[in-house]
Amino acid sequence: MEKVLLFADPGIDDSVAIIYALLHPSIDVIGIVAGYGNVERDQAVQNAAYLISLAGRSEIPLFAGSEYPLTGEVAPYYPEIHGEEGLGPIVPPEGIPAELLPFTELFPLIEKHKEELTIIDIGRSTSLALAFVLQNELMSAVKRFIIMGGAFLVPGNVTPLAEANFFIDPVATQVILTRARPLTIISLNVTSYALVTDDMIEEVTETNYNPFTFLMRPVFDYYASAYQELAPGIKGAPFHDVAAVMASQYNGIFDFIKKDVSISLEGETRGLSIADFRPGAEAGDISIAVTMDYPSFRNSFVDVLKRRL
Ligand code: BDR
Ligand code: CA
Repeated sequence: MEKVLLFADPGIDDSVAIIYALLHPSIDVIGIVAGYGNVERDQAVQNAAYLISLAGRSEIPLFAGSEYPLTGEVAPYYPEIHGEEGLGPIVPPEGIPAELLPFTELFPLIEKHKEELTIIDIGRSTSLALAFVLQNELMSAVKRFIIMGGAFLVPGNVTPLAEANFFIDPVATQVILTRARPLTIISLNVTSYALVTDDMIEEVTETNYNPFTFLMRPVFDYYASAYQELAPGIKGAPFHDVAAVMASQYNGIFDFIKKDVSISLEGETRGLSIADFRPGAEAGDISIAVTMDYPSFRNSFVDVLKRRL
């Protein structure tokens, strides 16, 4: 079992990524840090608590992540894509029993597992960057990091040039790009093709083996129709964050290239992912996924999400 600590901003694709991680037979989710992003921090916390409670996994610690970016700006939220509460039409019930731990309580957990720990960040960069700012030595001892973010030489999704997780807190992203090692980036270059289709949801929901099945259809329909508005004719909806969690398990699904990566911090290019892709350019030490085998993505999505809990 691979020990995984998730940083997330659930959000629809984050929520399905969390569910994927909870159902995956080789992933042991040792904790979830919920921060602002697709929704406000407190809503993200509530959604994560809801998923943990549906799974019957109240022993999974839930940590309070960041409420806003290091720039101090008020972050934009995306109800048109993720729903008012971040789960499409689903409103998590009030009063879910969950102990919300302060951020600094993360560190003893990381200390305990660091040598075998994979940290996967599928949210804005702020909380993970803060962990480095506060405890650099400890964070440098973590086995590996995978982040969903960036867009290399392809269009962004929140600006013409930038992807949301990189753009919203570029300073924090720069901290991660500079400090987190070994680092794998699952960017829009591959996640734009991590399309979940109606027939995949049909397959996932034809059995009712786990306590998440009931939410897959309404959540997918909401998200997919938002993407139809954004990109009419798109064949499905990109579940970016699921691809990032999948990358922790099936190395054969992605091909990687090793580069140095930086980010533009301000101006019109804010959030731009920068790496040298010229022929003959020097290699760096960050692995960027450049291709994804779609049939393998599809199979893993369906197989894991219909599993018994
Ligand atoms: C990323 O931004 C969020 O809105 C998604 O959950 C994903 O993590 C895609 O740009
Ligand atoms: Ca996310």
